[in-house]
Amino acid sequence: MADITIDSVTKRYGDITIIDGLSLQVRHGEFFTLLGPSGCGKTTLLRMIAGFIVPEKGRLLLDQEDITHLPAHKRETGMVFQDYALFPDKSVFDNVAYGLRVRKFAAQQIRDKVGQILDRVGLGHLANRYPGELSGGQRQRVALARALVIEPRVLLMDEPLSNLDAKLRIQMRDVIRQLQQEANITAIFVTHDQEEALSMSDRIALLRQGKIDQLDTPEGLYARPATAYAADFIGAANLVNVQGLARQGQHVQVDIAGGQVCVPDSGYMSGVESEACTRWQLAARPEHIVIHPGMAGAAPGDVAAHVLYRRYLGFKATYALRLPDGSTINVDVPSASDPVHAPESPVSLSFSADCRLVRA
Ligand SMILES: Nc1ncnc2c1ncn2[C@@H]1O[C@H](COP(=O)(O)OP(=O)(O)OP(=O)(O)O)[C@@H](O)[C@H]1O
Ligand SMILES: [Mg+2]
Repeated sequence: MADITIDSVTKRYGDITIIDGLSLQVRHGEFFTLLGPSGCGKTTLLRMIAGFIVPEKGRLLLDQEDITHLPAHKRETGMVFQDYALFPDKSVFDNVAYGLRVRKFAAQQIRDKVGQILDRVGLGHLANRYPGELSGGQRQRVALARALVIEPRVLLMDEPLSNLDAKLRIQMRDVIRQLQQEANITAIFVTHDQEEALSMSDRIALLRQGKIDQLDTPEGLYARPATAYAADFIGAANLVNVQGLARQGQHVQVDIAGGQVCVPDSGYMSGVESEACTRWQLAARPEHIVIHPGMAGAAPGDVAAHVLYRRYLGFKATYALRLPDGSTINVDVPSASDPVHAPESPVSLSFSADCRLVRA
C-alpha cells in the first residue's frame, strides 16, 4: 500500500500541452479515479505514474520517495491495459507468472502465487487455456491477476472494462473493487464512464484538457458540482442561464426565466459581482425540479413552462418542457406519482434548493 503525490506535473507533445501543471494526492488504500472525456489526458497521466512517460516538469512521489526518473520496472506498480495486452502465445498460467519470472522467483513460489491469484479471480480451472480461448471477461480477469500477482504497491487500470458488454461491465466493477480491497492496495482507475466512476471510487478527479476541473467524492461531485462542465459530465443537469443574482445571508437568490430559486452560495460572494450573471449558470438536475399543473397554483418564484413531450422510462418519466426564454429543460417524475401532463399543457416549475450555482 502506498500514497502517491503528483506535484505540478506537465507533459507536452510538440506545442500541445497534454497535462498542464497538474497536482493531486492519492491516499493509502484509496480507489482513485481519473475521469474525463476522450483526449483529456487520462492515459498520459496514468502512464507517467507507471513510468512509461517522463514529465517535462514536476515531480512524482511514491510514499515520499521521488520516482520521477525511476524506470517503470522499478516502480512496483501493476498495470491493467485497456486491451489487456496479454501474451497470445502464453497460457493463462504463464501470462500471470510472467512478472514473477522476471523478478526471479523460485518455481515453487511461482506455482503457489499464480495458483492463489487465479483462484481469487475465479480462473483456477482455466490455467492451461490460451487468451484466444477465453471470453472478454475472462481475459480481463487474467490481466487483473497478472497485475496483482506481483503484489504491487499501486494498481493502475486504464479503462479495463471498456471492451466488455454492459452486464459484465457492471459485474466486473464489483470484482475489481473487491480484489482491490482484499489486497488492500492503492488503485488508480481511468474511465470516461461517469457511472463507473461514481459507483467504484473513493474519490474522483474530473479532468478537463489536462487539468483538474474538480476533485471530490462521488457524492460531492454529483451533489455539489462547481462548474457547468462537472454538472454536465456527472449525471444529467439542465444548465439554466442566470439573469440576476442577489445575496440572502448564506444563500443566493438566482433569477431565471421569470422565476427565482434560492440556493447555497458556491463562491458567488467572492466573485466579481458586476460580471456575475454571465459567469454563472444554475445547474438543475432533472430530479431537482417539480412540475405543478397549470399556473393557478404557482408559488412565488415558480417558472411558467409548457410541456413539449413525456417519455415513459419505467420507474420514472422524463418531461421535456419549454421555458419562457425559449430554452428547453428536462424534469424527472417518479412514475408512481406522475399525474401525466399532456403535451402543450401549461405548468409551473419549482426549482429546489438542491440546484447549484456553477461556474459557466
Ligand atoms: N505519443 C503522442 N504524441 C502526440 N500526441 C499524443 C501522444 N499520446 C497522446 N497524445 C495526445 O494527447 C492527448 C491526450 O491523450 P490521452 O491518451 O492521454 O487521452 P485520454 O484521456 O486517455 O483519452 P481516451 O479516453 O480516448 O483514451 C490527445 O489529444 C492525444 O492525441
Ligand atoms: Mg486513454
